[in-house]
Amino acid sequence: MTRTEYYALIDDRLQEYFDLRAEDFPFAGLAEAMRYSLLAGGKRIRAILTLEFCRLCGGDIQAALPVACAIEMLHAYSLIHDDLPCMDNDDLRRGKPTNHVVYGECTAILAGDALQAEAFGTILRSGLPAERRANCAEDLANAVGLEGMCGGQFLDMLGEGKRLSEQELDEINGRKTGALLTAACGMGVHAAGGTEEQWKAASLFGAVIGHAFQLRDDMLDVIGSEQELGKPIGSDAQEQKNTYVSLCGMDVCAQRIERLSAYAKQLLRENFVDTAFLCELVDSLAERTN
Ligand code: IPE
Ligand code: IPE
Ligand code: MG
Ligand code: MG
Ligand code: MG
Repeated sequence: MTRTEYYALIDDRLQEYFDLRAEDFPFAGLAEAMRYSLLAGGKRIRAILTLEFCRLCGGDIQAALPVACAIEMLHAYSLIHDDLPCMDNDDLRRGKPTNHVVYGECTAILAGDALQAEAFGTILRSGLPAERRANCAEDLANAVGLEGMCGGQFLDMLGEGKRLSEQELDEINGRKTGALLTAACGMGVHAAGGTEEQWKAASLFGAVIGHAFQLRDDMLDVIGSEQELGKPIGSDAQEQKNTYVSLCGMDVCAQRIERLSAYAKQLLRENFVDTAFLCELVDSLAERTN
């Protein structure tokens, strides 16, 4: 499948989940807020990784689709909360006003909370065998919780206005961004019923591209265009964030992305066959402008 085909598959299914909830009921306003951020676009990288690793491990993409949608629900939750005034205080996301700007902070918090629960529910309600569902849910829980995205966001907040070491920044980014990309890949293997070795390799690949992904994200906060990126430029400096750009400079960031991308592709070739799609994806993410 091409990236465009994957994108359409994922977006159509996400629409379907939330169409079911479109009728008028007392809490329809909350459903609308959830739908607003989830269906506002987004690259769907995490879902694509899940489906492609499922394919590489001989699994059924249709059967894994709920798992892929679940990680996008979880990711949308993380973005809604990340943009809140008490966190990064941003007013633009995916080219639209952020959730709290449109619906207010209270609804935005609840929309995030509910998307998180829906993510786990979607995995558990999928038609996959029970053990595969459990493995995927565990991957996701590990990626999001104390030692994952939330832990990373906490450290990110603590670091504001302080000068951190490169090692400390790696730790933050590995958790706040890397953990979810790690899970995206690992869940694809688990959805397919792949081997432990495949899961380990996919997870390591996810962690490696996760670092490159945040490096590029930090670069784009400086050199990107708001129009293309769909989110504000200069947000990190405004919030006195530690970023790789502030720590190492643009050139070192670019070199590091190149090294990480080469390593990621090596991991693919050593552990899987038919890796052309993912190798191309790695290259395109390294140079992305949105
Ligand atoms: C943005 O993620 C948040 C980070 C982890 C850097 P994406 O760049 O994947 O955002 P969308 O899903 O395409 O909007
Ligand atoms: C956020 O990193 C990672 C998340 C857990 C959402 P950033 O704060 O740099 O992400 P953007 O730039 O707002 O998308
Ligand atoms: Mg942030
Ligand atoms: Mg942010
Ligand atoms: Mg950023």
